Amino acid sequence: MTRTPLMAGNWKSNLNHVEATGLVQKLAWTLQDKRWDAEKSEVVVFPPFTDLRTVQTLIDGDKLKLLLGAQDVSTHDGGAHTGEISAKMLAKLGCRYVIVGHSERRTDLGETNADVQAKAVRALVEDIIPVICVGEGLQTREAGEQIPFVLEQVGGSINGLKPDDIARSVIAYEPVWAIGTGKVATPEDAQEVCGAIRRYLAEDFGNEVAEQVRVLYGGSVKSSNVVALMSQPDIDGCLVGGASLQVEEFAAIGRFY
Ligand code: G3P
Repeated sequence: MTRTPLMAGNWKSNLNHVEATGLVQKLAWTLQDKRWDAEKSEVVVFPPFTDLRTVQTLIDGDKLKLLLGAQDVSTHDGGAHTGEISAKMLAKLGCRYVIVGHSERRTDLGETNADVQAKAVRALVEDIIPVICVGEGLQTREAGEQIPFVLEQVGGSINGLKPDDIARSVIAYEPVWAIGTGKVATPEDAQEVCGAIRRYLAEDFGNEVAEQVRVLYGGSVKSSNVVALMSQPDIDGCLVGGASLQVEEFAAIGRFY
């Protein structure tokens, strides 16, 4: 089963809509210079909500092959939920992906597996692919408990989803101790967990479903480590934070092959 690599740039709370225009234009030009083939790797940018319309207009207007994603989505379908952004609204803005359950939201906002599952359901109803984030903290890693911890998060975050919906979802393994620290997981450590995620999905939903799910690694991904990570059999892409704000870096990650 060949899975199209997915290189995702999570801008987090950075860049206003004017700065976003500059970065997206430069990213498109740089990828073109590197002869990036959109058939060989998907490159998705995840701007803050305030930038989505501007970036969508740029991508559509200039027929850029970049894809658009959002960093979160409401568990509600709209209505009297102040401040919430619904999946319907994101779909209207051309979002193809949405990050759900990022560790920063699980930590800062107490998002639970049930919240993540509800967000993923909302996204899938609108044909937006959820990027379901899981990952252990340093203490769990040092105790050697990363796999049961991560699999519990996976199970709780996809609980009740139909096999077809799971097959089209993306799971991002982001060890919390590697996020923003410069301490990237070794390719072997990343593969160990990503492979365990795929085996878990195969046991519960069958090989056909498990082989379709793209499993990403995130946590201090850079152009210098992306090739080694992508050489691992169960790593299908990367969820990139800091390096996605640096055009040359993110273009080199997107054009890793
Ligand atoms: O969502 C991706 C992010 O958590 C990884 O951040 O800066 O370690 O690449 P960074």
